[in-house]
Order: sequence, then structure tokens, then C-alpha cells
Amino acid sequence: MERGAWKSNTGFVLAAVGSAVGLGNIWRFSYMVHENGGALFLLPYIIALLIVGIPILILEFAIGHKMRASAPQSMHTIHSEWEWLGWWPVIFVMFGINLYYVVIIAWCALYMLNSLRSPLPWAEGSEAFFDNQFLRISDSVFVFDGIRWPILLMTVVIWFLLWFICIRRIDRGVEVACKIFMPALLFLVTILVIWGLTLDGAIEGIEEYVWFTRDDLPQLAQIHVWRAAFSQIFFTLSIGFGIMIAYASYLPKKTDLVGSAFIIALADCGFSIFAGFAVFSVLGFMAYTEGVTVAEVVASGPGLSFVVYPEAIALLPGGNHVFGFFFFLALTIAGLTSAMSIVEAFSSAAVDKFGWKRRNVVSVSCLVGAFGSIVFTTGAGFYWLDIVDRFLNQYGLILVGLLECILVIWYYRIDKLHFHLYDANEGGYPPIWDIWWEWSVKYVVPLVLFIILAWSAIEDISTPYGDYPSEAIMMIGMGWLVATFLAAGVFSVYTRHRDNDRLSL
Ligand code: TRP
Repeated sequence: MERGAWKSNTGFVLAAVGSAVGLGNIWRFSYMVHENGGALFLLPYIIALLIVGIPILILEFAIGHKMRASAPQSMHTIHSEWEWLGWWPVIFVMFGINLYYVVIIAWCALYMLNSLRSPLPWAEGSEAFFDNQFLRISDSVFVFDGIRWPILLMTVVIWFLLWFICIRRIDRGVEVACKIFMPALLFLVTILVIWGLTLDGAIEGIEEYVWFTRDDLPQLAQIHVWRAAFSQIFFTLSIGFGIMIAYASYLPKKTDLVGSAFIIALADCGFSIFAGFAVFSVLGFMAYTEGVTVAEVVASGPGLSFVVYPEAIALLPGGNHVFGFFFFLALTIAGLTSAMSIVEAFSSAAVDKFGWKRRNVVSVSCLVGAFGSIVFTTGAGFYWLDIVDRFLNQYGLILVGLLECILVIWYYRIDKLHFHLYDANEGGYPPIWDIWWEWSVKYVVPLVLFIILAWSAIEDISTPYGDYPSEAIMMIGMGWLVATFLAAGVFSVYTRHRDNDRLSL
């Protein structure tokens, strides 16, 4: 079977950046920073990027490129009993994270359309609009209180768009879309940042974002700040998703994987930090107009972007509609290119394993996905989203990262992968790099991830997350992880008899 290929290395980097840059950079990053102490969050965030994010991104590129297959087949090649480690992330991302992710894209698209209405529908107060009119959040996790039809309708539209882009071949679909959307997005965000910085009070917001004092330091002793930073790095770089493995498998034999990894990681995190200036200058502006401190401005959580930005848009002296429209257009586009990448990773995995037709896999999985999204469009959707987001990201992604390292250390040899990286890049790499990468994957990454997982688990057992009843967390959060884990097991067992096409090492 012929594998599609990227037309150029730039195409690959753009698509990988397209996957990495998404709602995570604006929506998730901003509330993570706001919730975890502003500037104080940036320190663990950057540490997580350097000691875990980049090494794992290189590891995933190396695995995908060496095995020339999507995640499950790659894991299978390393050790036939570990195929589930490839299926698990692609399944829980495709039928877990992606289900609510598409709903958030739908919120963005609706806000984009709402921005055109005059007067702005949230003119009376954006938080009240978001909670009581837009989402009409129900009283608790198990009170669904019906479907929010506009949201469901837009969710279906977004799934349709995803399907439409993904049934085309990889080079024509994803690559072309990324080449148009990514530069456009950077342009829009740059305008937002510049606009934001000119607002009254922006300086106070920026101060909160980049400056911390000695008194803030004890916060660094809290595990949840570190856990949030690490899971944000996984989420934002799309690592532990199985996506980067699939993307690297489409590259030509000779390519600079390490260079691409650095470019992608730095561009993505740089983008988040850059966009953060817009978020915090707007927060500063709101604090200024309301006469409160930046920390007091707004309830944090997944609603932050949908409260802060619309509020600011309404408060602006002019151009409100244009500003709002383009901001939410940018978010919608960023989200689409990310969501595309998991449809791609899942369908290439299924095509590789079962030999099914690509078109059919994409169609069926988008249909199943659209049905799965329904729960997030109900009145309790917001709570479900919050719980699923925490659990799949803070346990699922981190665990996958840890297991990938363990698998490679035990059943493959890290120096073999290392050699492959050298071999693929004809020029080799500077010597210092040898020690750094091998040590990271062998010792630093597994150790750090293990500590974070174990410590968080202990903390979560003693104090359940948020105000949710513990059954809800167990059922929704853990349930989702366990169910997708079982599905991954079934997928791997089912394909065991197709062993004959196993590559020889
Ligand atoms: N990295 C993306 C972001 O920052 C997240 C992401 C990538 C994603 N691919 C995805 C989320 C697929 C859901 C489904 O937003």
C-alpha cells in the first residue's frame, strides 16, 4: 500500500505546527496561566518544555520515521505485545479529547457569528451571557437539562468540515489547509497583541503575566501547578496523542527530525506565550475599567477566553464587530487544523492495520465522533468537558509519554533510535546533543513523569478535583480512560493474526 508523502519538509513542519497550534495555545493556555498563578506558571511551563516536551517530541518523530507507520503499527514493530500503546492514545484523543475539542471550536464559530450582531448579545455582561444564555449551564454534572441546539448544530457543521478536509489525501488536504491557515492565524494574533497593548491598564495585566515576587515562590511547591504545566506541554505539542508519530511516518527518508522538532516546539510555545500578551493586556484593561485587581477580574476555568475576550470586545470604543469576528475566526481555524490531525492519525492507524478504505474510516469515525460530542452540547456539557479535559490530559497523555519511554528503553535500544536520527540527517548533530537526548529519554523524562503522576494520584484520591461529586469524577474521568484502554486492547488483539506484515528489525 502506498503511503502518502509530504510534498516538502516545510509542508510537514507546517502541518505539525498546525496540529500543535490550536485552541490549546489560546483557550487552554490562558486559563492555565490565570488559574496557576500568572507569571509563576511560566517557569514550570518552560521547564516542562525543555526537559520533557522537546525530548518526547523527538522520540515520537524518531519512532514514526524509523518504523514508517502510524502509532499502533510502530509500537507493534517495537514489541508485538505493546500495540495497545499505539491504539490507546489515538482512541482516547479521537473519541475523548476531540469530542469536546470540536464543541469548543463550535463555540468559537458561534461567537464569531454573534460578533456580527448589533448590539453584541453579551453587551450586558459576558460572563452572564456565557453561563446563562449561551451554555445555560445546568445545576450539576448529572442534570443534563436538554441539548443546546445552536451549539449542537454548529458542532455538526464542524464535524462535517473535518470530514470534508480529511477525506482528501494527506498532501492535498492537511498540507494545503495548513499553508493557508497558519500564516493567517499568526497575522491575526499579532494584530490582537498590538491592539491589546494599547489598551488602558494593559501594563498591569502584563505585569501579572511576566513578573512574580518572592512572596509568590511558595506556590511552586504545589504539585498541581507542575502537573498543569506538564499536561499543558503535552496538550499543546500534541505529544502522547500518537499524532506526531503518524505525521513523521510520511516524511522522506532523509530529513532533519531534530531540527524540525525544535522549530515546532519553540514556534508552538512561543506562540502561546506571545498570545498570552493579548490575554493579559485585555485582563489588565478589564481590571482597570472595573476598578479591581487583575487576579480578581473573572472566574477562571475553561470559560476564561469566552468571558474575557467578548467582554473586552464589548468594552472597546470602536471596531467591536470586526475585532470579534476575526478573533474568533482565528480560534476556529486554529482548532480545525488541530482536530484534523487526530482524524488523520486515527484513520491512518486503521488503514495501516486493517487495510480498510481510508474514505470509509474517515466517514465512520467522524460520524461516531459527532454522536459522541452530543453530551458536551447539553446543559451539563461544561462540567463534562472540564472533567474529561483534566483526566485525559493529566493522566492519559502523561502516562502515554512515560510508557513510550519505557517501551523504547526495554524493548528497543535508545542508541538505535539515536543512530537513526543521525542517519536520517546527513549532517549529524553536535556532540553535546548525544548526552542530552539519551539521558533525557532514559532517566530524566521517566523519572519526572513518574513523580508527577504518582504525586497527583495521591493528591486526587485525598482531595477530589473541583467541587464535583467523587462518583462523577470516577465515572466520567477514570471511566473514559478505562473504556478507551479496553477498546485499545480489543483493537490490538483483533489484529494479532495480521502479524505477517511485521517489519524485521
Ligand atoms: N495541540 C493542540 C492544541 O494546542 C491540541 C490538539 C492537537 C488536539 N490535536 C488535537 C486536540 C486533536 C484535540 C484533538 O490545541
